[in-house]
Amino acid sequence: MKIVIISASVRTGRNSHRVALYFESYIKKNTEAEVEILDLNSYQFPIFNERLKHQPNPADNVKQFAEKVRTADGVIIVTPEYNGGYPASLKNVVDLLYDEWRRKPIAISTASDGIFGGSQVITSLQFSRWKIRSWTVPAMFPVPKVQEAFAEDGTPADRVGVAKRAKSFIDELLWCMKATAKMKEANS
Ligand SMILES: Cc1cc2nc3c(=O)[nH]c(=O)nc-3n(C[C@H](O)[C@H](O)[C@H](O)COP(=O)(O)O)c2cc1C
Repeated sequence: MKIVIISASVRTGRNSHRVALYFESYIKKNTEAEVEILDLNSYQFPIFNERLKHQPNPADNVKQFAEKVRTADGVIIVTPEYNGGYPASLKNVVDLLYDEWRRKPIAISTASDGIFGGSQVITSLQFSRWKIRSWTVPAMFPVPKVQEAFAEDGTPADRVGVAKRAKSFIDELLWCMKATAKMKEANS
């Protein structure tokens, strides 16, 4: 089983990437799943101009990103909240792919520097996910005051409390991944 974590923030001095680093470490230590971070800041994709499947000569890193999403059994999106929505960097890749997202279990973690943990992002992101026919995992992992909650290397300030919340979030994702795998097997 393979999980990819999409770290959505490309902002200079970003903090939500810390949450992606935490999940990577948590999954390695506590599950048997393979895990990889797809860092949108490293990819630096240009602004969307057409879906991958309609691009005559897609860039290698776009093809590589799409393949990693396609072959993942589950996806975690770690996104900040900007003006009540999710960042353009994330919409860029939501729109880039289509078939790759289909029936993909996707768990959403939001982050902000305020007390609400970026939870207002959920409505718009959930709707976009539904439009591209992926499955949103019914679990939440909002991170309020992300700059205080996690150190730069992803170490949480409250190790025990965060691990407890991460367990229920990741367990739900794993359940959805297994359910999807069983359905695929039954229909193959
Ligand atoms: C353009 C912009 C808009 C923001 N809008 C919100 C907002 O609507 N709600 C909120 O709680 N925080 C908002 N913030 C603060 C972010 O939650 C905070 O900067 C957080 O660290 C963002 O994640 P990042 O550091 O990974 O980019 C905004 C920040 C920026 C840069």
